[in-house]
Amino acid sequence: MHSLIYTILVITGVFFGLKLAYVLCTAVVLPATRGALYVSTSRVRISAFVDAVPMKAGQLLVDVGCGDGRVLRQVGRRYGVRALGYELNLLAYLKAKILCLGCRNIEIKWRNFWTADLSDADVVFCYLFPDVMADLGAKLKSDLKAGAVVVSCNFPIPGFSAKRVLRPGNSLHNDPIYVYHF
Ligand SMILES: C[S@@+](CC[C@H](N)C(=O)[O-])C[C@H]1O[C@@H](n2cnc3c(N)ncnc32)[C@H](O)[C@@H]1O
Repeated sequence: MHSLIYTILVITGVFFGLKLAYVLCTAVVLPATRGALYVSTSRVRISAFVDAVPMKAGQLLVDVGCGDGRVLRQVGRRYGVRALGYELNLLAYLKAKILCLGCRNIEIKWRNFWTADLSDADVVFCYLFPDVMADLGAKLKSDLKAGAVVVSCNFPIPGFSAKRVLRPGNSLHNDPIYVYHF
């Protein structure tokens, strides 16, 4: 009986500890992420983007705000391309590092992507927040090479017209995924 109570207390403690870590890690970086919380894109939605944007060996995918790195892993597995993720949230960064252990084509940086040079990227993936999309458009326009593809989950980039808008039918949320050719 005692060991059962002990086990329940430990599980509850770990659960609340993780929740607290999420809240703290998110709150600390909120001024820098400007509202983009650590929320993951579903596998169905990533698959829709991966199907719609084929990549070739040697190309580079960058996820600006990569969360647990799931986009990098799914694209890396499908096309064998190089994948680089920037992530400021410490909890998400550590999870991404652990989940990407052994993936030699994936790199995760605990760094603010606004100060990074994205000029090597062939495809940029983002799932951020409406408030930052106009600034993001300006940064991508100044950084990216001609022909680079930008994929934005949920939120359009003001001033740019999307080449395609995906709405994966079998996903839980039917929010759009915008595909831009720069
Ligand atoms: C909505 S989540 C998306 C995660 C992942 N891309 C996905 O689709 O599953 C947005 C992530 O971007 C990160 N982020 C926001 N602004 C950032 C910045 N300036 N530099 C690095 N990471 C940032 C947040 O911490 C958060 O984890």
